[in-house]
Amino acid sequence: MLTIHSGYDLTAFNTLAMPAKAQFFTELNDLSDLPELLDFIVQHDLATLWIGGGSNLVLADEVPGCVVHILTKGIELISDSKESVLVKVAAGENWHDLVTHCLENERFGLENLALIPGSVGASPVQNIGAYGVEVADLIDRVEVFDTFSNSFVVMGNADCQFAYRDSLFKRNPGRFIITSVIFKLSKQFEAKCSYAALQGWLDAQGIKELSAQAIFDAVVAVRQSKLPNPELLPNAGSFFKNPVVSNECFESLRQTYPEMPNYPDAAGIKLAAGWLIDQCGWKGHYRERVGVHKDQALVLVNHAGGSRSDIDELSNDIKQSVFDRFSVQLEQEPIAYP
Ligand code: EPU
Repeated sequence: MLTIHSGYDLTAFNTLAMPAKAQFFTELNDLSDLPELLDFIVQHDLATLWIGGGSNLVLADEVPGCVVHILTKGIELISDSKESVLVKVAAGENWHDLVTHCLENERFGLENLALIPGSVGASPVQNIGAYGVEVADLIDRVEVFDTFSNSFVVMGNADCQFAYRDSLFKRNPGRFIITSVIFKLSKQFEAKCSYAALQGWLDAQGIKELSAQAIFDAVVAVRQSKLPNPELLPNAGSFFKNPVVSNECFESLRQTYPEMPNYPDAAGIKLAAGWLIDQCGWKGHYRERVGVHKDQALVLVNHAGGSRSDIDELSNDIKQSVFDRFSVQLEQEPIAYP
């Protein structure tokens, strides 16, 4: 049974706490309600925003059309072989709860992605990643409703066109409704701890036995030490992507900044946006309503009811100063809507 609200306050439905108002808003708890919802959307010719945890969104004050909060639940083992399992998870499940559930049931692979805010259905959209693992590495396929063909479609991993913080879903907003994600997880644990901050924490704690629980605990501790909890200080995680520059551009920057963090990338050299912003003196920058986190320059925070224009202004000022100093263009990571 669908209840459709109009003029609905979305502050609690986006982790940046943008005080946005949706023209229409509804919750989808059961996929059997989808036909009725789609009829309503088509009849009123509405743009539609499908949201999970709202952790990667920068909303405008007025959100025209229909906002649908996906709350479908279910975690199901659909195949079990000697080495691996396939686990089908409904889009509305909470991401961190899934990571915990898999750890408890000895389905390995998701440990490095612990504590990422948001829902399972949102995880393929921006191809969430942390501490050397991207969700694309663990997705077997994604079940979607394609609003162009008006049908349910199963998309294999390659069909999703995953890239760094990007996918076919992110590039085609509104077209695909992700209903379930099928993960391929391992029965044998293999520690992935080459990421410097993670290895550093494990070394500092003297942890030698690299169990799945130890990696999970380390990731949680490192995240908590650097990233603000959106429930306490509204934010959308990394506000900019780490920019990829050409080898020539990097070589020239390195002459002036030999200490600049850099990582090899298929398209050139990936730089650390947080470092670039930090070098420009933005860390801890404080404005009336919004600012830059005190421990992590890549995270913009909304400490006093700031709206889209406050965030846009700050983000543009940061981009401009990074460009003026390094000639590097930063790209926003969360989705601006509309
Ligand atoms: N750095 C600074 N100052 C800062 C922030 C970072 O100098 O204020 C330096 C660090 O010292 C380090 C480098 O920049 O040398 C990279 O920093 P870090 O390892 O903390 O990672 P990140 O590039 O800032 C990325 C992801 C995070 C993810 C971490 C861990 C992106 C845009 N961000 O951050 O993802 O948790 O790596 O893997 O790729 C997210 O997407 O919302 C997110 C939090």
